[in-house]
Amino acid sequence: MHPFQCVLRARRCLRRGPLASVSWLLLRTCRAHSSVPSSACPSPQRQQEDGVWKDFSSRLATGPTFQDFLRSASVPPEQPSSSEVEDPPPYLTVDELLGRQRRVYLETYGCQMNVNDTEIAWSILQKSGYLRTSNLQEADVILLVTCSIREKAEQTIWNRLHQLKSLKSKRLRSRVPLRIGILGCMAERLKEEILNREKMVDILAGPDAYRDLPQLLAVAESGQQAANVLLSLDETYADVMPVQTSPSATSAFVSIMRGCDNMCSYCIVPFTRGRERSRPVASILEEVRKLSEQGLKEVTLLGQNVNSFRDNSEVQFNNAVSTNLSRGFSTNYKAKQGGLRFAHLLDQVSRIDPEMRIRFTSPHPKDFPDEVLQLIRERDNICKQIHLPAQSGSSRVLEAMRRGYSREAYVELIHHIRESIPGVSLSSDFIAGFCGETEEDHLQTVSLLREVQYNIGFLFAYSMRQKTRAYHRLKDDIPEEVKLRRLEELITVFREEATKANKSFVGCTQLVLVEGPSKRSAADLCGRNDGNLKVIFADAEMEDATDSRLRVRAQPGDYVLVKMEH
Ligand code: 5AD
Ligand code: SF4
Repeated sequence: MHPFQCVLRARRCLRRGPLASVSWLLLRTCRAHSSVPSSACPSPQRQQEDGVWKDFSSRLATGPTFQDFLRSASVPPEQPSSSEVEDPPPYLTVDELLGRQRRVYLETYGCQMNVNDTEIAWSILQKSGYLRTSNLQEADVILLVTCSIREKAEQTIWNRLHQLKSLKSKRLRSRVPLRIGILGCMAERLKEEILNREKMVDILAGPDAYRDLPQLLAVAESGQQAANVLLSLDETYADVMPVQTSPSATSAFVSIMRGCDNMCSYCIVPFTRGRERSRPVASILEEVRKLSEQGLKEVTLLGQNVNSFRDNSEVQFNNAVSTNLSRGFSTNYKAKQGGLRFAHLLDQVSRIDPEMRIRFTSPHPKDFPDEVLQLIRERDNICKQIHLPAQSGSSRVLEAMRRGYSREAYVELIHHIRESIPGVSLSSDFIAGFCGETEEDHLQTVSLLREVQYNIGFLFAYSMRQKTRAYHRLKDDIPEEVKLRRLEELITVFREEATKANKSFVGCTQLVLVEGPSKRSAADLCGRNDGNLKVIFADAEMEDATDSRLRVRAQPGDYVLVKMEH
């Protein structure tokens, strides 16, 4: 055991743009332990179950190492073969569909779905013979995976396009012409408006059109603009294994469903990403198994409404069993029936590798039946961390947002979750200044933040989006300065409460998955605890859990027991 100097540190992490959102983390360690903690919090249930815990920690010690992962990651990339290329459309030859070693530079904006989509797009292009580059100057094709959720997100892309314009015009004639593509939500929302406004954009591909990228780029080769922004009812890219680009990664995202049927009145997502559809369970399990074999230690199941998962692909499960919603919650759509639900998937995924942590994001509060909560409580490797986007603390605003619940139902769910999963870490999203929000409504949101004391939060100023129900039926009547003032107030309260909530970890021993060196100091490592809080601790020799005579230094992908102090 090595005593280190202790500091209680706060970290502010704005997700997108000034004051757009805040993730609030506190923690600095004092000691790294290699033995099972005698006192345990804030997840007493788990650490009290000594037998299970010992089994888990001994399995941690015998699991695949980071070195195993590096070895398997160094397998040379698959060579494209023309037999892998689907039949070309009549106007393109197989040869034209191949990437001819062109270098692609991919840039991602927006949510984690977009991070995953970037890897899907890359996987498709790689199979067609494209190469990837992380050097913009070297690129022959630049693809931006874009976001439309707020006006500001789109403005960032327009600004970026202006920069790229000069790169394109200055391109040497001796090189192949630079091609620029807009992928994702902005391509879907604005469609040909982008092509008309920015003539230098060569291709557009909506979130369901990535399989067409080789075709679109082949058309662009001839100097024409090309677009596919068709939304699909069934595209889940189930057979496209995203390419892990960072060999040192300890965790990966696995997309399990796409689209959204909720139609919250402020949200553009149902229009940019289309109808809700789930990927077949078998293909998800196969992907997670592969990631486990590669030595990854954490997967995050991804979807716009991840816990609304419903795999209807297997006929025998399509019976008429009705859906259990969280108590007091309703949907804007006709009740769906049958299929394999999220609890089943979570159960199956968590059984693949007991040393692999499972997280999921982003869920909707309406789909937390007891089966899901019990599973999170019982299964050691399912992280005790739940994102529960509230959006507002006022029942009146929630109704205008068409969220399908009142403040009271939401608070009851929070209590139920806390009773069901002791020590659970909670996070949420909030929107400040939605149409018609009064000072009283705003204060209700402030009081919800005080009441719940979230560990992590993402807070945004409302941004009216065309096509949404709010755009057609409500008035964006809160002045910008009022929205920003309310947002500031929410951030301040959120931080105060998160500081209190996160202080409860001080003195507790936490299982931390090491991610790598801390960005702040070469002498420190950084990782995350079960609740997804960032933990920074000294990079020093420590006891090996399997053999107390061994002194080791923690590597990315290792689990370390860390005692939090301040
Ligand atoms: N304006 C501001 N925030 C929004 N969000 C979604 N749509 C909007 C909008 N029009 C926020 C919600 C959602 C998160 C992903 O983004 O809080 O949960
Ligand atoms: Fe942006 Fe939402 Fe699209 Fe993600 S799904 S890229 S957050 S608009």
